[in-house]
Amino acid sequence: MKFFVDTAEIDAIAELHALGMVDGVTTNPSLIKKSGRDILEVTKEICDLVDGPVSAEVIATEADAMITEGRALAKIADNIAVKLPLTWDGLKACKVLTGEGNMVNVTLCFSANQALLAAKAGATFISPFIGRLDDINLDGMELIEDIRTIYDNFGFETQILAASIRSVNHVLDSARIGADVITAPPDVIKKLALHPLTDKGLETFLKDAADADIKIV
Ligand code: E4P
Repeated sequence: MKFFVDTAEIDAIAELHALGMVDGVTTNPSLIKKSGRDILEVTKEICDLVDGPVSAEVIATEADAMITEGRALAKIADNIAVKLPLTWDGLKACKVLTGEGNMVNVTLCFSANQALLAAKAGATFISPFIGRLDDINLDGMELIEDIRTIYDNFGFETQILAASIRSVNHVLDSARIGADVITAPPDVIKKLALHPLTDKGLETFLKDAADADIKIV
């Protein structure tokens, strides 16, 4: 399973990238706003740092304008994935932009039928939003499961990019179900390393090493 980092903060991406944990990056207008940076500048910096797909989202809502913005974003670097909302106009733009050889990430997916349409429009990635469904007491993981089943039933090659991930359990469940990619905030990725028994065990080993005066170098 690939790990994308869901942020536009260069330092956070660089820290995880140095450990080989970054297969790609996703941004959205809210994350760009949070970074306080110019979208074109910060996206270029991310693309220079990371080899994998970097999602940059359009802000137009009408297909022709989305296509114009998508082409402008795609010019930033070869590894841009143009991010389009799952609307009818977004699907039209998806068909055109993928036809021109661009990667497209169709975002704001909340139903399996929407995911089916995105695959038929040739999307490279579909982004079902797990956390936002959980927020309204619906089951985000059930959506990932349904999309996995449908895509496998018909051999769609669109990659399932589990998004709106809020917890380490979202990552684990996405991996179990077979999402192709997860995109998670840096702190969630870092929390994957934590376990209280690891901390407790290390404490004991360090105490015993000190008691026995063990030295390695
Ligand atoms: C990424 O592609 C999505 O825009 C992001 O995961 C949304 O996350 P949120 O629901 O926590 O804002």
